[in-house]
Amino acid sequence: MNAPTRINSALNVRDQFPAIAGWHYLDSAATAQKPQAVIDAITEAYSRDYATVHRGVYERSASMTDAYERSRAAASKLIGGQANELIFTRGATEAINLVARMLPKEGRTRVLVSQLEHHSNIVPWQLAGYEVDAVPLTPEGQIDLDAAERMLTEEHRVVAFAHVSNVLGSLLDARRAAEIAHSKGALLLLDGCQAVPRLPVDVSTIGADFYAFSAHKLYGPTGIGCLWGRSHLLASMPPWQGGGAMIDAVTFERTTFLDPPARFEAGTPHIVGAVGLHAAVNWVQNLSLDAIHAHECALVSEARDALRGIPGVTLYGPEDSAGIVSFNVDGVHPHDTATILDDAGVAVRAGHHCAQPLMRWLGLEATARASFAAHSDSSDIEALVRGIEQVKRVFAK
Ligand SMILES: Cc1ncc(COP(=O)(O)O)c(C=O)c1O
Repeated sequence: MNAPTRINSALNVRDQFPAIAGWHYLDSAATAQKPQAVIDAITEAYSRDYATVHRGVYERSASMTDAYERSRAAASKLIGGQANELIFTRGATEAINLVARMLPKEGRTRVLVSQLEHHSNIVPWQLAGYEVDAVPLTPEGQIDLDAAERMLTEEHRVVAFAHVSNVLGSLLDARRAAEIAHSKGALLLLDGCQAVPRLPVDVSTIGADFYAFSAHKLYGPTGIGCLWGRSHLLASMPPWQGGGAMIDAVTFERTTFLDPPARFEAGTPHIVGAVGLHAAVNWVQNLSLDAIHAHECALVSEARDALRGIPGVTLYGPEDSAGIVSFNVDGVHPHDTATILDDAGVAVRAGHHCAQPLMRWLGLEATARASFAAHSDSSDIEALVRGIEQVKRVFAK
């Protein structure tokens, strides 16, 4: 095996993550571990500051409302948006469902997705009655934008692509995707679940129309996510759930609704989730997403070099994937690989990764996937390599 080039962590934040002490956590693409700053913000929100939002007239409620709204502004600013353009949802899945269900179709009945999409960016469109067309991938595993250009018609209402693939780490040329979508009057929705934690995103430079992401993949809490949308598009969408907090006036005959974003946030929201998300946004911004991206790119290249050096290991996806490496060990089911790695203290994901159409394109049922985060370092890759050598020893018997 070739000796991999060891990358010392330039970020040095590992000791800020109490839950990974003594553990090689390589499943951040599924959900990120939480830095102490986020854990503290959540604890303080419940133990010191807690009250409802938007309704209370007492001071604690007013300051909690401020905190909730400051989180909205910060989450939107993180991706280059304005506060009134960001709706809090349960996560990226709910954000995409909201657009699929409520965006007026304007006579267009098709959506253009790609072969590598997460099920969250396929099934909502089917449920909303769209015909789904899938753009093929290049041999390296990128969305083939030349093919997208050829396939797009004036029947397509939306082009909906992953900004970064959760399986292959493929990074989309998002600006070109926006130009292609707009050339036929379609809108671009980006599934930014894997991009927002890994690289700087600016929706206005990209020219995106909608952008969806989840807090829990961005070092924040579960149960809250974001839908960013251009304000005139959000204004064109009727409410999808009714209840408190989204109404202007209610009578038994007729109800009128608030403007976005409140129109889409019926009921008591995930108040403390928003506080935790804000802490997570601050945390990544303090480190800088440029630095996180550079760090994860270096780890990917170190991991790919190391894995390539092990006979019988197949790598998938582009060489310059963003923070995510999928692989298989010849003759070993990825679940077995992941189980033996678990015994060695290394957590990787194994399965179809909620991307069955991509698995079919790869001609596989499953892969093993190692995904990095700001806290990852060379010790994780060394443990992964040792674990894979153990997998090979076990299956050689
Ligand atoms: C690319 C991508 N899209 C969508 C999702 C769904 O995110 P959530 O389950 O947080 O709604 C995921 C989660 O794995 C993902 O990786």
